[in-house]
Amino acid sequence: MILVLNFGGQYCHLIARRVRDFGVYAEILPCDVSLKEIGKLKPDGIILSGGPASVYEHNAPSMERKVLGLGIPVLGICYGLQLIGKFAGGEVLAGKLKEFGSKTIYIKKNGKLLKGLSKKEQVWMSHGDLVAKLPDDFDILASTDSCHIAAFENSGKRLYGIQFHAEVAHTPRGGEILRNFVFDICRAKRDWHIKSASKKLIREIKKEVGKNSVIMGVSGGVDSTVAATLLHRAVGNRLYCVFVDHGLIRKNEAEEVKNFFEKKLNFRHFYFVDASQIFLERLKGVAEPEEKRKIIGHTFIEVFESKVAELGKKHKNIKFLGQGTIYPDRIESAQPSKFASKIKSHHNVTLPEKMVLRIIEPLKEFYKDEVRKLGKELKVPDEILNRHPFPGPGLAIRILGEVIEERLSILRDADFIFIDELKKSGYYSKTWQAFAALLPVKAVGVMGDSRTYEYVISLRAVTSLDAMTADWARLPNELLEKISNRIINEIRGVNRVLYDISQKPPATIEYE
Ligand code: XMP
Repeated sequence: MILVLNFGGQYCHLIARRVRDFGVYAEILPCDVSLKEIGKLKPDGIILSGGPASVYEHNAPSMERKVLGLGIPVLGICYGLQLIGKFAGGEVLAGKLKEFGSKTIYIKKNGKLLKGLSKKEQVWMSHGDLVAKLPDDFDILASTDSCHIAAFENSGKRLYGIQFHAEVAHTPRGGEILRNFVFDICRAKRDWHIKSASKKLIREIKKEVGKNSVIMGVSGGVDSTVAATLLHRAVGNRLYCVFVDHGLIRKNEAEEVKNFFEKKLNFRHFYFVDASQIFLERLKGVAEPEEKRKIIGHTFIEVFESKVAELGKKHKNIKFLGQGTIYPDRIESAQPSKFASKIKSHHNVTLPEKMVLRIIEPLKEFYKDEVRKLGKELKVPDEILNRHPFPGPGLAIRILGEVIEERLSILRDADFIFIDELKKSGYYSKTWQAFAALLPVKAVGVMGDSRTYEYVISLRAVTSLDAMTADWARLPNELLEKISNRIINEIRGVNRVLYDISQKPPATIEYE
């Protein structure tokens, strides 16, 4: 595997994605991970990401210096290159040069890292600092007009660096550079395939669960259905699936999920639990997004634990709680640290401190598109694999502020119309995710001859690959107009519809 150390760079996730796309497993860890932790992973190579800081800044993200002396090849990208430069005894100049955007590098020597590239290549730069000098045992491979050290290698010490971002599409031959590092330098094996991944995952689940049983929260969405299918392959009828209606689901959703699990999946144990009263009661008067998420996450666990207690009389040994957590859930819920900030606490990562059940999350290393491929391999029906993601906290994070019955009912209807029209027009499958959100403000309108003072609905439709970044979907104006007219005319309590044109970053897909 290839270990990516995160120094807070905005393209860090793309590095891991690129490596995985080569068929090699890659994992991202915070830059200050211990040597012991690194030792356990036995990486074939380490990539140091970019980052917004300056290496000499007080509190700048750093890593254990010894990482460079493990004999494992290390590739520093941007900030990563500067850090290697600093540790190796070179000279790093802060703020001396600002290179942003497309640049030409002139390659003097290809070495192993730039093997196969031409004398002149386009690359994507985004840096304010630069390495001005390196010790003699470093070969300078490439320069730009203004940056002497744009790429280096020290094959004796197995240290490599590029000042530009090979992981972004704007560096057309960046993939070849990463490939040179991963295969020629690190000699990593191409063994990360969905097929082998599913077999391996099933083996691992069997080993972990042993003779015990697993209770699994399912929502009818892609992640939890694929996770449940894997668990079912591993433990068979010792899997107990539970769909919890927390009162924050969409129109007709409970019926649809029930039908799907009972008629199509045919798992022996499927239970429907209506816990809406308890969730809604606990959310009363709560407007703060993280507080809402925490209440929902903790209440889910309580509901599962009481179901286990209830089943306990007949079905012993339910020791595990299965969850459909995927990789981005964990990244965005990261505990705030010096270098990474918590964006939002995904419900399945927000667990109470004291838990009786042990968590098992077979998909925790996967991105969404990989989960879909895995689902295909496991023959999960397309109607599930093609569903848009729906977050565990449900409509609670699409009603900004306090969740109240009236708002839930309006939002359910608006969302239903939006999705209905997207499906009818063929745009549902062209968007990655789409939904309506309710803004807790009222606006003035006129209907018939009377003044109205009602809620505002915001429509959000995005395109994305893995939810780490997203763009707003360019829906046709006529379609938006039709949806807006239907929402305003058919739903009492709404007199205005907005279309959200923000990208992630700086916005996020959901509103809270
Ligand atoms: P954001 O809002 O962070 O969302 O851009 C990225 C993706 O994650 C989904 N999401 C969640 N999924 N539990 C989930 O199961 C959560 O708590 C949660 N929060 C966000 C969101 O719908 C989008 O697809």
